[in-house]
Amino acid sequence: MDVFHTPEAARNFVSALRSQGRTVGFVPTMGALHDGHLSLVDAAMNCDAAVASIFVNPTQFGPDEDLDKYPRTLTSDLEKLKTAGVSAVFVPTKEQMYPDGFSTSVNPPLVSESLEGTCRPGHFRGVVTVVLKLLNAVPASHAYFGKKDYQQWRVIEAMVRDLDLGTRIIGCETVREDDGLAMSSRNRYLTDEERVRALLLSSALQAVEDAYQAGETRTSILQASMRHTLLGENDSGRVASDAGLQSRPCLDTLQYATVVSAHDLTPLSSIDRPAVALIAGMIGSTRLIDNRELGPT
Ligand code: PAJ
Repeated sequence: MDVFHTPEAARNFVSALRSQGRTVGFVPTMGALHDGHLSLVDAAMNCDAAVASIFVNPTQFGPDEDLDKYPRTLTSDLEKLKTAGVSAVFVPTKEQMYPDGFSTSVNPPLVSESLEGTCRPGHFRGVVTVVLKLLNAVPASHAYFGKKDYQQWRVIEAMVRDLDLGTRIIGCETVREDDGLAMSSRNRYLTDEERVRALLLSSALQAVEDAYQAGETRTSILQASMRHTLLGENDSGRVASDAGLQSRPCLDTLQYATVVSAHDLTPLSSIDRPAVALIAGMIGSTRLIDNRELGPT
């Protein structure tokens, strides 16, 4: 497995394969690899060669976010990628990606403006700019993104389409722990007590799926059901502890719990087209997100 540190070296390697007519599958990551990342690598192995990147991109973290404590496990990451059969890994430094004088950025597409775009101002500008730079260094035929970061996948699809990049963007299913928690590099921040409460996200999404399967298509009802699970709200919208009832485990902060159109993430009053339920919130100081597609996709 080759490890490249400069965009030029990575591009020479990938361009040579592409000019021989080979397909190249690319998996961009920030490292701290888990089985969710490795499922993307498995999908990329359907191409003639798979290439991954590891770069903790500072420009997509807000000033109060976890850039400094983001886990960095390069040696074991490279071992995992080698075992998985990856041909090459691009591991640039911050200075290579953002040398002195760097000042260009990509204006993110419309689909970036709601949800994560509201909670994390500037996040998607950082993501689309770095993904464009990564795709310039690794001009792959296919690139693989997790539906775990559902909006990110849709934002990158739109950016690649709008800017005619020519790489096929493939969304891959979320990989979960046995109890349903979506795998995330940030799960390691959770205490034992918080790890139990983290299951509220997947339980709330399961309840929405069950209600939808039972015929409920009104998003107001489905959203109320999620708030009920996540915040311990009763049917009148009051929080159990405020109403003097015994309080149930809940999220510390709910940022959103919504059902929107799956393709452009616009609001829906009822599920009359492919939809997705999305949740974001804080448990202790850890921010968690999860989602579930509903209906035909
Ligand atoms: P990172 O958080 O490392 O995730 C890399 C890829 O793995 C993303 O496409 C993400 O959606 C996917 N992924 C994470 N957890 C997953 C899970 N449980 N199941 C399936 N896929 C999962 O996302 C980023 O890095 C960055 O924003 C990046 C795109 C690399 C740009 O910096």
